[in-house]
Amino acid sequence: MLYLFPFYNLLVGFNLPFNGEDIFQEFRSMADTPMKMILRTEALRKYIYETSAYPKEHEQLKELRETTVEKYQKRSFMSTPVDEAQFLSMLVKIMNAKKTMEIGVFTGYSLLTTALALPQDGKILAIDRDKEAYEFGLPYIKKAGIEHKINFVASDAISALNDLVNSGEEGTFDFIFVDALKSEYLKYHELTMKFVKIGGVIAYDNTLWSGSVAQAEDQVEMPGIRSFRKFVIEFNSFIAADPRVESSLLSIGDGVTLCRRLY
Ligand SMILES: C[S@@+](CC[C@H](N)C(=O)[O-])C[C@H]1O[C@@H](n2cnc3c(N)ncnc32)[C@H](O)[C@@H]1O
Repeated sequence: MLYLFPFYNLLVGFNLPFNGEDIFQEFRSMADTPMKMILRTEALRKYIYETSAYPKEHEQLKELRETTVEKYQKRSFMSTPVDEAQFLSMLVKIMNAKKTMEIGVFTGYSLLTTALALPQDGKILAIDRDKEAYEFGLPYIKKAGIEHKINFVASDAISALNDLVNSGEEGTFDFIFVDALKSEYLKYHELTMKFVKIGGVIAYDNTLWSGSVAQAEDQVEMPGIRSFRKFVIEFNSFIAADPRVESSLLSIGDGVTLCRRLY
């Protein structure tokens, strides 16, 4: 669910700044309010999904998406939207990526998308502290025949990345997808910059943060959006000034920033 996507940090249960039920209340009102979307209307989202994205969605991706909705209900909005996933898949293929990393897996929609896009001998290091959600999606990954490409590490992302420093993996990843805790994006960036190769790409998800990055703080009605907004704005400004990367902020999904490492 594209427009509910940014709330996941609050729902996955840490540093909750306010009551979770309030957030669900906010979802409902936000879903009914087209102006809070990045796309102008729900009809436009539906059009993109139905005419472009769903017809070419891989069978196991469809199954995983539907079963994630059944199991996780409102939390299923954490899954990468289908149009964004297709874009990431195409990017991985255009780049001829062979070795990738994903930070923030949930039930594995973006992971399965990337794994399907990699060649048979491709490898993905997938990091998430929620092993249960990964295992929920694992049968679909197995059914798609791409489990051999995935090395899942159940850990806090910063710890896992720090453990990887000096392991010989620096500068070896073609592509890294970051979709975990927004308040840690600057820390992830310093670490992912060590691991992505020169010319490789890091993609950061949710960088338009429900459109709130372009609103004054007191205009952002929803506390869940407001409390993480400053981290996203700070991250976006940092990337725009970071001489180590060429970057592009795409208005797909909830905003995806591509960073290509220059040196
Ligand atoms: C938006 S979901 C990822 C969605 C996923 N890309 C997909 O397509 O389904 C964010 C994930 O980040 C994980 N996460 C949040 N904070 C984390 C942290 N500090 N370390 C590791 N994983 C974290 C959560 O457990 C959650 O599964």
